[in-house]
Amino acid sequence: MFSYLFFIFLTNFRISHSDLSKNLPLWTWECVNERCAPSRPSPEKKLQSLETCNMLCSSMHIWPQPTGPVSLSSTAVPVRADFFQLQILTAPSKSVREHLQKAFELLKSDLKKIQKNARGFEEWRTVNIRVFVNESSDPRMRIDTNERYKLFVRPKFTSRSITVDISAQSFCGARHGFETLLQLIWLDPYAGCLLMLEAADVEDAPRFKYRGLLMDTARNYFPIGDLIRTIDGMAASKLNTFHWHISDSQAFPLRLVSTPQLSELGAYSNSDIYTTKEVHSLVRRATLRGIRVLIEVDTPAHVGYAWNWGSADIGDLLLCIDSEPWSDFCHEPPCGQLNPRNPHVYEILERIYAEIIQLTGVDDLFHLGGDEVSERCWAQHFNYTDPLDLWVEYTRSSLERLEYANGKLPNLTLLWTSPLSERIKTDMREYIRVLGLQVRNTAWVHKQIIGLRTIFSHEDNWDLNNGMGMWHESNGGAPYNSWQRVYEHRPWVRSNADMVEGGEATVWSSVLSEDGLDGHLWPRTAALAERLWTDRAEGATRPVHARLDVHRSRLIARGSKPLHFGPSGARKIVLHVFKIRHILHLLLKHIKFKNKTFHINNACLKNTFIKFC
Ligand SMILES: *[C@@H]1O[C@H](CO)[C@@H](O)[C@H](O)[C@H]1NC(C)=O
Ligand SMILES: *[C@@H]1O[C@H](CO)[C@@H](O)[C@H](O)[C@H]1NC(C)=O
Ligand SMILES: *[C@@H]1O[C@H](CO)[C@@H](O)[C@H](O)[C@H]1NC(C)=O
Ligand SMILES: *[C@@H]1O[C@H](CO)[C@@H](O)[C@H](O)[C@H]1NC(C)=O
Repeated sequence: MFSYLFFIFLTNFRISHSDLSKNLPLWTWECVNERCAPSRPSPEKKLQSLETCNMLCSSMHIWPQPTGPVSLSSTAVPVRADFFQLQILTAPSKSVREHLQKAFELLKSDLKKIQKNARGFEEWRTVNIRVFVNESSDPRMRIDTNERYKLFVRPKFTSRSITVDISAQSFCGARHGFETLLQLIWLDPYAGCLLMLEAADVEDAPRFKYRGLLMDTARNYFPIGDLIRTIDGMAASKLNTFHWHISDSQAFPLRLVSTPQLSELGAYSNSDIYTTKEVHSLVRRATLRGIRVLIEVDTPAHVGYAWNWGSADIGDLLLCIDSEPWSDFCHEPPCGQLNPRNPHVYEILERIYAEIIQLTGVDDLFHLGGDEVSERCWAQHFNYTDPLDLWVEYTRSSLERLEYANGKLPNLTLLWTSPLSERIKTDMREYIRVLGLQVRNTAWVHKQIIGLRTIFSHEDNWDLNNGMGMWHESNGGAPYNSWQRVYEHRPWVRSNADMVEGGEATVWSSVLSEDGLDGHLWPRTAALAERLWTDRAEGATRPVHARLDVHRSRLIARGSKPLHFGPSGARKIVLHVFKIRHILHLLLKHIKFKNKTFHINNACLKNTFIKFC
């Protein structure tokens, strides 16, 4: 059955003394008991890079770790980006077919990034990818999208090619298959060529269906290119929701055709604006990456100057603007809160909702915002009504407008946890099935979330901007969340939540701008991604660290700039001293791939050494 394994076209390469030159690498890495151990190169030894050793030595470098059975070959062959081919065997719609084709082009462009520093190609294999998608005719990431996929890689000896079969029920599932395939390919810096595992079986599906990252582009503006790079990083970690917290007290950087006043009054400047064209390009990229873009225009609080265009005709849209002392009227300056008793507010909201849905194509999931309403601000103006009642009234009216704008209520509409949350079960009972809470704090009372759909984004574990000090308070703010802390947090275990839709990391950008972005996001967001996709009980152990380190290199190869976890030399120590055990957790069906020694293709290496000598 696996007869190809005995097909010998790869010859063992040993460095001869004559090959040694001053350019010879300082270390060679050898797989000993499933760990990569460094030693000095010598003529008796095979020369192997850490990158290649990592990929061949232990079979679990896919990030996030698949949840189904996996077996990976420990032999590799050289490949190159322009010799990948796609054949779509089954696609339930023209649109899915087109998306597969374009996602494949992205796969090739990712490969080209990885092979950028390749020095030569010889004896490469052709890689034929065959895709079967058999169910969902809608390529978008939907609430009910089945993200399961199967990946099957086999060499074909008659034609010196590799066949890859990816099967899934949806485009998004197949896209995850592309991603896993990409993770079986790396650049060997010693050989100077792209290598790929020549055989693999992977079955995989996520534990949670909502796996998000929130980015706040209001407090500080990020050029669209930064957001697109972030989308790419999310895709590499199989996250599926880019929660775009696009506006806040400080700014409204989205130019809307329906309500141009918002960015005219609310943007920091004419250049700190997202145009419709930019949003479209982000959404297009995200869709091809299996990611939904969930734009949140936060109301009724956190609205700021953007709404300050009331007039004698339409009345005040905004109350408490710039009130001082601000701490009495809002959670952060500048103050401003929508006027819940002005019907024009709701007409404008309907236009905003309709345009956002049209821009993103996301009509089954929505975010109303709804955090940190100042009861005092409203109490000042409507002193005969309980502000909480006003808030219920405001939220009901917003939901009605959302229903008009969308033609129907989305399957799930999210609200930040707040004093209003307690009223959902009493005052908004008819919405209970379609409302969900985004829970920000571990201190949130557990009984309140029973029976409600829940997204966890506990900032005391998963906020990525913490630890940088505060800009408007004297205390230092919350402490930094290390990647270990992010990884080990499993809120569904301790809380009584019974309807968990997923989780999300948050990047409130109060003290963050484009320069520091990648270092804040990566690798911590990838740590969260594995928590949400795989959710193994194990903590941030050394094997996890070693795997995340491999993933970090992958993110770098694709253009991100993640932080280091420690001194570079520590990699050596970590990988060296720890016997990798995580294989035991896997349901390995085919251990036949194991114990194969790896041989780099001779021609590929010869090429390298010709250049070295
Ligand atoms: C699609 O394929 C999966 C796995 O092979 C199978 O379980 C499912 O029933 C198929 N769906 C359809 C509509 O054929
Ligand atoms: C939302 O979608 C899920 C998954 O398809 C489905 O089970 C649920 O019934 C839907 N809920 C509503 C309120 O439509
Ligand atoms: C309520 O507001 C009205 C008009 O703004 C004011 O005359 C009255 O004193 C207020 N009552 C209280 C209890 O603040
Ligand atoms: C694989 O290697 C281990 C020790 O490293 C050995 O115990 C085992 O028998 C080997 N398996 C095969 C199939 O050769």
